[in-house]
Amino acid sequence: MKVLVTGANGQLGFDVVKRLKKSRIELLGTDRNTLNLSNKEQVKRVIREYKPDVVIHCAAYTAVDKAEDEKELCREVNVLGTRYVAEACKEIDAKMVYISTDYVFDGEGDKPFEVVDKPNPINYYGQTKYEGELEVQNYLDKYFIIRISWVFGSHGNNFVKTMLRLGKDREQLSVVSDQIGSPTYTYDLAELLIKIIQSDKFGIYHATNEGVCSWYEFACEIFKQAGMDVKVKSIKTEDYHTKAIRPKNSVLKKNHVELYKLSNTWQDALNHFFEEISNKS
Ligand SMILES: NC(=O)c1ccc[n+]([C@@H]2O[C@H](COP(=O)([O-])OP(=O)(O)OC[C@H]3O[C@@H](n4cnc5c(N)ncnc54)[C@H](OP(=O)(O)O)[C@@H]3O)[C@@H](O)[C@H]2O)c1
Repeated sequence: MKVLVTGANGQLGFDVVKRLKKSRIELLGTDRNTLNLSNKEQVKRVIREYKPDVVIHCAAYTAVDKAEDEKELCREVNVLGTRYVAEACKEIDAKMVYISTDYVFDGEGDKPFEVVDKPNPINYYGQTKYEGELEVQNYLDKYFIIRISWVFGSHGNNFVKTMLRLGKDREQLSVVSDQIGSPTYTYDLAELLIKIIQSDKFGIYHATNEGVCSWYEFACEIFKQAGMDVKVKSIKTEDYHTKAIRPKNSVLKKNHVELYKLSNTWQDALNHFFEEISNKS
């Protein structure tokens, strides 16, 4: 099996490449220099020439707040770029994995969002990721759309690393407690993706670590596990202004198919993350 990974230098792409190498699966990791999603010809040429059996499309425009000001670029990368990847997969009959997000939903209500629930994005990034899903579905039959949320891993920037950085300089941090979701650990997700690409059970999946928390609870657990004495103050979304609106309820229901479940709780995943970063240093 040959696998092409987009966004190989991103948080998730990096761990996916690492995991594929561990399984000795032949792969080509691409970044914005070697496969720029804004460059239709390059996207198609690189995929056509490498002729992978599977493309794991991890690259995306991910700056959620900045996207509200850079709409054109965000659309170009997340919608058109995804279309080019899907078109190329169609040409060579490759499977495509498209990584999507909880932000396709509006976060209303108190029930976890099911795979079959109708998306209704409330920010521009979410809108483009949803349109990316539609591009994939429009061009392909052999696709996996994997919706994830609150991503963290040892490579790149994320909430965990931000908390650790801020916690070093401050005694107290304010974190919102009225947005809930489930963290997704890139190490665990990469493990799951290895299984997924070897199957033919195509469709849309929700794949986060087990358990639900608020950002406030996530922050408290980070400092507890890091052994850092930082006071975390719970605040409301309305007291923390961001350019893009965030869904209040980001919980994704995922027990529809046991095969594709990440079995670790988010707390266990966080524990593993700390082991991983301590082994690195
Ligand atoms: N982070 C989250 O909390 C979260 C939540 C839900 C879903 N997701 C989805 O999960 C996937 C992986 O996210 P992540 O956290 O790994 O994001 P990330 O760390 O921001 O990585 C995204 C990668 O895409 C690359 N990229 C951006 N524009 C590109 C272009 N025009 N051509 C080629 N590559 C380009 C970036 O390259 P540069 O480094 O050069 O900019 C980066 O390496 C994305 O599809 C994202 O939408 C993320």
